[in-house]
Amino acid sequence: MNPPPNLLSAFNNAFNKLPKLVARAPGRVNLLGEHVDYNDGWVLPVAIDHTAWIAASPCSSDLISVHALDLGEAVSIQIDDLEHKVDVRGKPLPAWSYYPAGVAWALQQHSLQIGGLDAVLTSTIPLGAGLSSSAAIEVAFAVTWQAFSGWQLNPMTMAQICQTAENAYVGVNCGLMDQFASLHGVAGNALLFDCRTLEWEPVPLPQGTSLVIADSGVRRSLGDSAYNERRTACEQATRTLAERLPNVHALRDVSIDAFDQHSHALPSVVRRRAEHVVDECARTLEAVEHLRSGDALGFGKLMYQGHASLRDLYQVSCPELDVLVEIATGLPGCYGARLTGAGFGGCTVNLVKEGNVESFLQALSMEYWNRTGKQASAWVCQAVGGASTSMATTLKRINIQ
Ligand code: GLA
Repeated sequence: MNPPPNLLSAFNNAFNKLPKLVARAPGRVNLLGEHVDYNDGWVLPVAIDHTAWIAASPCSSDLISVHALDLGEAVSIQIDDLEHKVDVRGKPLPAWSYYPAGVAWALQQHSLQIGGLDAVLTSTIPLGAGLSSSAAIEVAFAVTWQAFSGWQLNPMTMAQICQTAENAYVGVNCGLMDQFASLHGVAGNALLFDCRTLEWEPVPLPQGTSLVIADSGVRRSLGDSAYNERRTACEQATRTLAERLPNVHALRDVSIDAFDQHSHALPSVVRRRAEHVVDECARTLEAVEHLRSGDALGFGKLMYQGHASLRDLYQVSCPELDVLVEIATGLPGCYGARLTGAGFGGCTVNLVKEGNVESFLQALSMEYWNRTGKQASAWVCQAVGGASTSMATTLKRINIQ
């Protein structure tokens, strides 16, 4: 995959030199296992061909200078000031720069030396659309620092460090799925990831199907606080159920039967949240069996069920996402559809028979417009490999425009 043509020239304009390296980190779409990663559950993400890109060189001072090409903004941060979240002039850091700064800070927390950096960042992952734009930026910076430093992390540890950046520096209490997917992607495959044991395996996507992402155009508003609230509800449910059930350390440990017996002990909202998680864990494991046997229909049925659960029990959908799923349900060749990612807006993911994709894309956008007066963008995504870097020797072959 080649970097966007303007990335290298932007670096040249910003720093008056050529970059030493280009890093890419993919976004992800999650097929099933939503809001279960922070409950030690199983998830099924796919790393996709929407990407965060960085052109970078080490710099001799202790300054981290990042130009955000898509925003037309830049920031410079002294490494010593990372903890204080201020730029080189002592001003509070802009929100977008919390991601690179957070990664630098988290690497230091793990006693990993990082040096000054000149970097230009651009991304083809729509922001706030539930496709892990933030995790991809974190991962792109982590692999960049690794390439310029003397240390080497295994990808899982790197994912955890990026998660620490997001939890402790950015302040979003996310699980590990997004950073994991961006680092471990396998072309043509979904990734079955056990968020407790950290074991994972690639599972091929069904032959003759395409993954279609449909962006509702709705962006998360109170998303992040609502996200943290959901997590708190799960923790409350776990504490109450653990008093009654031995060996329950997370909602992943609660079987559907045990939940049915003990859920009356939970306040009603908390019960609904926990019910989604318990069902979704079982659903994801069942769905993987359908994937393994190439049964797109069986898999798709569980995607629809997953959406209903996110809408009615976990309550993280919105009218526009529900409309997208409703429309998809009635279109020829659609095996399954559901919201993907944290919810509260963003995208749906659809499993569609290859031969029906063109008509699906057209009908979905048209019908969405008719029903909501809003424009949806829908496209076929490819499952790609995890984050990588290319050094300057390779880049010489790429023309600066
Ligand atoms: C966000 C978080 C993930 C995960 C999903 C919901 O993308 O970053 O850790 O919790 O929401 O499944």
